[in-house]
Amino acid sequence: MEIRPAATEDLDQLNDLYNHYVLHSHVTFDIRPLTMAERVEWFRHYGETGRHRILVAVTGTQLLGFASTSPYRPREAYETTVETTVYLAPDAIGMRLGSRLYAGLFRAIDGEDVHRAIGGVALPNEASVALHRRFGFTQAGHFSEQGRKFGRYWDVVYFEKPLP
Ligand SMILES: CC(C)(COP(=O)(O)OP(=O)(O)OC[C@H]1O[C@@H](n2cnc3c(N)ncnc32)[C@H](O)[C@@H]1OP(=O)(O)O)[C@@H](O)C(=O)NCCC(=O)NCCS
Repeated sequence: MEIRPAATEDLDQLNDLYNHYVLHSHVTFDIRPLTMAERVEWFRHYGETGRHRILVAVTGTQLLGFASTSPYRPREAYETTVETTVYLAPDAIGMRLGSRLYAGLFRAIDGEDVHRAIGGVALPNEASVALHRRFGFTQAGHFSEQGRKFGRYWDVVYFEKPLP
């Protein structure tokens, strides 16, 4: 198993992995699967330096998961805050891969001009809540019924992590 920056060749599997959660889970508030054209455009925002990174976990040619730091909000003063995301293939869950991806992600942005990391977790999601707490995130807010999917409303907890 290897953790490395994502490459264009990973995007097909990455999009399939993410779209699984779009279709079958409340953990993402996307409702419609992303097309590959949208995914390729999304990928342009990441680099191998700077604040916005994306790492993948792979064995051979099989993608097991990814984690990223993305812009939190477009207005300029928010630029020192990033939003973190992590998704594993369903059969890769529960083997500490989420922790390894987050560890790699925080190593990658170490030394970059990032002051806060934010993670939004739609509830329930015990694994994600535990992962964020393990990485030093603390709960900053709990919004009720912030999204509607599958015909019901879902709460979202926001976690924040101070960075130097
Ligand atoms: C959330 C996710 C990335 C966590 O990755 P993971 O590899 O399964 O988690 P890890 O094995 O690294 O465990 C991290 C921590 O969470 C805990 N944990 C894992 N699964 C758990 C569960 N189902 N319930 C409670 N705690 C759990 C672990 O014990 C560990 O805590 P510890 O270090 O204090 O022992 C993974 O479950 C996943 O991809 N889920 C589906 C997509 C998703 O929900 N993404 C997050 C959107 S906010």
